[in-house]
Amino acid sequence: MNLRYAILSDIHGNQPALLKVIEDAGKRGIDHFIIAGDYCISGAWPDECIATIMDLPGKVVIRGNEERYLENLIGKDQAAWTDGQMQISYWSYRNIRPDHLEYLLSLPQTAEFAYGKTKVHVTHSSDQFLGEYEFPQFGPAVLAGRYADCVVTKERLSRDLQELLDQDPVFAAKVNTLEDGVYIFGHSHVQWSYKVSGRNVLLVNPGSCGLPLDAIEESIPYSILTISEDGETGIEEIRIPFSKRDYVKKLRQTSQYEQAAVWSKVITFELLTAREHMTFFLRFAEQYANQKGDDRRPFSMETWEEAYEIWVSNQAETVIRLADKEDIAALQQLYYELEQDAVRFQPEHFVHGNRDALFFEGIFQSDTQDIIVAEQNGKIVGFAHVMILEQKRVPCLKPERVIYLQDLDVSEELRSQGIGTRLIEACKVYGKEREADFMRTQVFPQNTRGMKFYEKAGFSEKMKTIETYL
Ligand SMILES: [Fe+2]
Ligand SMILES: [Fe+2]
Repeated sequence: MNLRYAILSDIHGNQPALLKVIEDAGKRGIDHFIIAGDYCISGAWPDECIATIMDLPGKVVIRGNEERYLENLIGKDQAAWTDGQMQISYWSYRNIRPDHLEYLLSLPQTAEFAYGKTKVHVTHSSDQFLGEYEFPQFGPAVLAGRYADCVVTKERLSRDLQELLDQDPVFAAKVNTLEDGVYIFGHSHVQWSYKVSGRNVLLVNPGSCGLPLDAIEESIPYSILTISEDGETGIEEIRIPFSKRDYVKKLRQTSQYEQAAVWSKVITFELLTAREHMTFFLRFAEQYANQKGDDRRPFSMETWEEAYEIWVSNQAETVIRLADKEDIAALQQLYYELEQDAVRFQPEHFVHGNRDALFFEGIFQSDTQDIIVAEQNGKIVGFAHVMILEQKRVPCLKPERVIYLQDLDVSEELRSQGIGTRLIEACKVYGKEREADFMRTQVFPQNTRGMKFYEKAGFSEKMKTIETYL
């Protein structure tokens, strides 16, 4: 008989992601779980995450390093919790039921079990198996630099890591010291696995389902381990669609977002870009505090907030998210730009229209429409208006669902920098999550640049629109 485990790690208070993974595993008939630590801090639902895990059947659960931050707060004088840096830990601590915290802190640091001939070892960080190897080679800070300006697919990341590990004698020497078995760990927030050729050694990092930092933007990871009684092992790396924008929208409405504002904002930035930022922000805050001559650590509220304001104004990275009311003025501006093209290409049909607040609010309130925006340094630089439509119910049409891209625009001066591609990728995820079968849009025949862009994103011509004057 084969035993199958869903392996997940680094949930960090992101209960919607945790539930998605459990649901996906359930659909695949998996009801055994291995969870490799870091349940709280960063997302606003730590208590719900713990409760969900406590309820899981057939599970192996260990502690992560972040559990220690909560443990350290037990019995401390809360009146002294006035710094800025630790507000996130204080918030988590105050929002976890004492019995849930007790469960969390009762978890072991490591776990081991055997199935047939196979020994499985679980620990939070790969250090225990590989020494200091993973983070300097391809930890999230390294990947953030390596993949700063490109769209990263799962295939690309797997290929790059496989190549690196296959060719690195240091890695080979480290795995040679391991006995046969499966070695499971999380902590780096990067999904990867490696089967040592000619030996029964399998290394598995399922990545972080709550806060992935492996540069793959529109999905969350977990892995499935299969062990047969005679010692065969296999791993399947899963990525499931997950709307980080919807999640961030919810996160922004929580008391955590208010009470641990800086941390929540940096984490939101990490989530939406799937790249490390906290390490860089902490480094910046250290420099800033030193310059200012403020030696209080953890950082004081004032220094923490000032450092954030300066740091964020220097970030040029693009965040893709759902639009809300505060974006209306910027969107009106972009629509004007877009309409200039329409008026130029087809003056017989188009004029500059005035899209008032009601137009946008209608979209925001609709269950089947949204505007996805690209934001750089707090400025909206592009958008995509999408809607989910059912095909007409006529006998000759398959009963399909389409995600229709009504409008897409990127600020003229920022085109050809990959922003449009990222908006299209986000639209695809939006459609997949709503079970759309395909995506459709219309292009003016004169818009050859636009057509090239869409072709690159996988679109092809399916129909020509024709008309005549009467
Ligand atoms: Fe973590
Ligand atoms: Fe960790």
